[in-house]
Amino acid sequence: MEFKQELTRCQNKIEAYLAGCFAGRPDHAALYDSMRYSLLAGGKRIRPVLALEFCRALGGDEDKALPLAAAIEMIHTYSLIHDDLPCMDDDDLRRGRPTNHKVFGECMAVLAGDALQSAAFESVLTADLSAQQRADAALVLARAAGQDGMVAGQVLDMEGEERGLSLEEIKQMNALKTGCLLEGACLMGVIAAGGSQVQLEAARTYARAVGFAFQVRDDMLDVTSTAEAMGKNVQTDAVRGKSTYVSLLGLERCQQVVLEQSQLAKDALAGIGMDTSFVCQLADHLAGRSN
Ligand code: IPE
Ligand code: IPE
Ligand code: MG
Ligand code: MG
Ligand code: MG
Repeated sequence: MEFKQELTRCQNKIEAYLAGCFAGRPDHAALYDSMRYSLLAGGKRIRPVLALEFCRALGGDEDKALPLAAAIEMIHTYSLIHDDLPCMDDDDLRRGRPTNHKVFGECMAVLAGDALQSAAFESVLTADLSAQQRADAALVLARAAGQDGMVAGQVLDMEGEERGLSLEEIKQMNALKTGCLLEGACLMGVIAAGGSQVQLEAARTYARAVGFAFQVRDDMLDVTSTAEAMGKNVQTDAVRGKSTYVSLLGLERCQQVVLEQSQLAKDALAGIGMDTSFVCQLADHLAGRSN
């Protein structure tokens, strides 16, 4: 199948699965509304796509990976809701809509993020996988999301508004705030497929490189793109005085870095006994993405 067709097929599958999550609206309608508002706002779904595609590429049953894929998207969505809060990036546009706190208020936005995080672990821990696979996936997710993962990256990002970060610190920040969740996505796909340690390590190397490139590209698009194309406000990093690869190295060097990292990602998967075609094309697609 063509790359674009396969990407759309996979995104549609994830969309349908996510639409079924929190579909019942029991007692806390406002909370559910707030969670669904951001979860079903139509992001690119790159992280869940990676989870399903790593599973599929290793000969696994992608349906079994769906609850893990949904979990990583829930964590990602929670990170975006909190990232947009006035105390953090103070953004009012996300995924083409007013940000969660603009619609539901800050209190509900914080709580919707909290609940999405818990729901992500519930999704992993009730997946139709072996007990060992569920435990492995939950551990991967916790480490990707937590105090030595995405949250640590967000801390560095906020510190970077107060003082300029060095290139090394920015690298570390990107690896943590963005690389960790992409890594978690790929690793959970391998776990769902019952992949080997060698395959896990190769997926980790791929994900770290793709994740790094992904954040550098995001910082570039903040300078070069439009709010219409991105579904979020642009030119915001400079306004907030954020330290980014772009602010230190400039756009041209940044695109070189993106291409280098994408190549590293693809090289990492050679010879590990998986069908690498889709995930390699995805690395290229993300390197040239325009939203
Ligand atoms: C945005 O992530 C935050 C970053 C890590 C740069 P995405 O670009 O994947 O956002 P969505 O999910 O498509 O909205
Ligand atoms: C966000 O980085 C990374 C997260 C963990 C949410 P950014 O702050 O650059 O993401 P955008 O540009 O708001 O999507
Ligand atoms: Mg941010
Ligand atoms: Mg932000
Ligand atoms: Mg950004």
